Amino acid sequence: MRTARTALTLAVVIFVAALAWTVTGRVTAQIAPTYVRPGSFDEVIQNSSSELFRRGQQVFRFDTFGDERFWSDTLRLHQAIAGAANGGVGPGVGPAAALAAGLKVDVDMVPQQILAGIRSGTVNLNDPANTLALINARAVVGVMPAGNGRVGFTCALCHANVDDSFAPGIGSRLDGWANRDLNVGAIVAMAPDLSAVASLLQVDQQTVRNVLMSWGPGRFDAELFLDGKAFRPDGRTASTLIPPAYGLAGVNLHTYTGWGSVPYWNAFVANLELHGSGVFYDPRLNDATKFPVAARAGFGNVRPASAGDDGITSRLPSLQYYQLSIPAPAAPVGSVNQRAADEGQALFNGRARCSSCHVPPLFTEPGWSMHTAEEIGIDDFQARRSPDNRYRTTPLKGAWSHAKGGYYHDGRFATLRAVVEHYDQLFGLRLTETEINDLVEYLKSL
Ligand code: HEC
Ligand code: HEC
Repeated sequence: MRTARTALTLAVVIFVAALAWTVTGRVTAQIAPTYVRPGSFDEVIQNSSSELFRRGQQVFRFDTFGDERFWSDTLRLHQAIAGAANGGVGPGVGPAAALAAGLKVDVDMVPQQILAGIRSGTVNLNDPANTLALINARAVVGVMPAGNGRVGFTCALCHANVDDSFAPGIGSRLDGWANRDLNVGAIVAMAPDLSAVASLLQVDQQTVRNVLMSWGPGRFDAELFLDGKAFRPDGRTASTLIPPAYGLAGVNLHTYTGWGSVPYWNAFVANLELHGSGVFYDPRLNDATKFPVAARAGFGNVRPASAGDDGITSRLPSLQYYQLSIPAPAAPVGSVNQRAADEGQALFNGRARCSSCHVPPLFTEPGWSMHTAEEIGIDDFQARRSPDNRYRTTPLKGAWSHAKGGYYHDGRFATLRAVVEHYDQLFGLRLTETEINDLVEYLKSL
């Protein structure tokens, strides 16, 4: 009898102790979620997270996916950069001309000797040999040395900037920022042999060069190589602005016309735009009416020459992970009138109904964030160049950092103010002058 009671007491004590331990354990877990027990699965997750981040950053900055075969072996663009004096063709591109074309230099990668020379003025900024030295040091953002004088391009070419800390165009990297200075068209137009592009588009090389030169800085046309449309019905360029690649976490659809998710578009770009070597599958591109070039070229089902030659698929997980890690940059201190921005926020979420589409804090709709051209009061040319014939609600965070080139997919509105005035008319908001200013201040603060 006594033993039974003792056993029962003991059991109760153990139960209560276990309960207390569990509860404390839980509470502790909530207070210190970062504690990782060695050997636990939590540790596996944490290691994977840092590894994906580390690798993804490398891919974003430095991986060409084998695209030098296109840019150098086929188009021979590297020869135009080097110039005749360095075994290439033509005058070549000196550092000053490269900077003028919007290329950026990562100051932390420039060899000390060259940096000192730039500072003291002893490095000739018109000598293409110095551009090659910078490229070989991997200091020209998005342009990679690829052996035998060849170059390849990376995602950072268009989706990174520098903070100009050393000189204009030379500074520390700003990954994810849209390079609105970069004249992609002018750079590609320098390539000595554009016959591959010409035959893809079934036009002559001069036409290709004219189209490339029509883009201007900060722009590119990702759909040209699908539908062959270089100009809009009103005669203006069909290219779009280079968007930022930051602030994408939580956003479902990407590109101005919502082609797909981040890894969808990353695979699309690496295969079809950069011309890396990999696998890409999207039968929507077999639509010969909508995408005559893509259908002809078989872009809906791309495979590498041999199975071992896929330089893209294995990079997609880390690349996506890194991109989702890049936050939109905060507005510079002192750049916003906070009182006005607060008023603007109330309007944004209230009477102006902006938040019905730009849902905070994503500033796009959770879900299928697509709208017809009519809903936002513009023409449907660009929308109709995409599978769903719609425009995606642009996430607005960091919009202040890409004012250059304007807003909306084609920069049709020169300023945030012009965007607000457009909505004012379209939705019949009857905003006062003060209210328009308040909304603009709020947009600048995001
Ligand atoms: C030559 C310039 C250029 C290069 C290089 C480039 N992009 Fe882009 N990127 C663009 C343009 C232009 C768009 C807009 C396309 C559209 O909406 O039709 C875009 C759109 C995007 C978007 C959608 C952003 C959003 O608003 O949702 C992502 C993500 C992206 N690119 C990732 C990449 C990755 C990853 C690479 C490297 C594999 C890359 N890009 C290389 C020009 C470039
Ligand atoms: C019906 C949904 C909808 C509503 C309502 C709406 N927007 Fe938009 N917004 C969009 C879409 C879609 C785009 C992309 C247009 C394009 O790129 O051509 C866009 C683009 C923008 C842009 C340009 C972003 C960039 O980087 O180019 C700004 C700024 C903006 N909206 C602000 C607002 C404000 C302010 C309001 C309220 C007055 C508002 N929007 C109401 C759907 C909407």
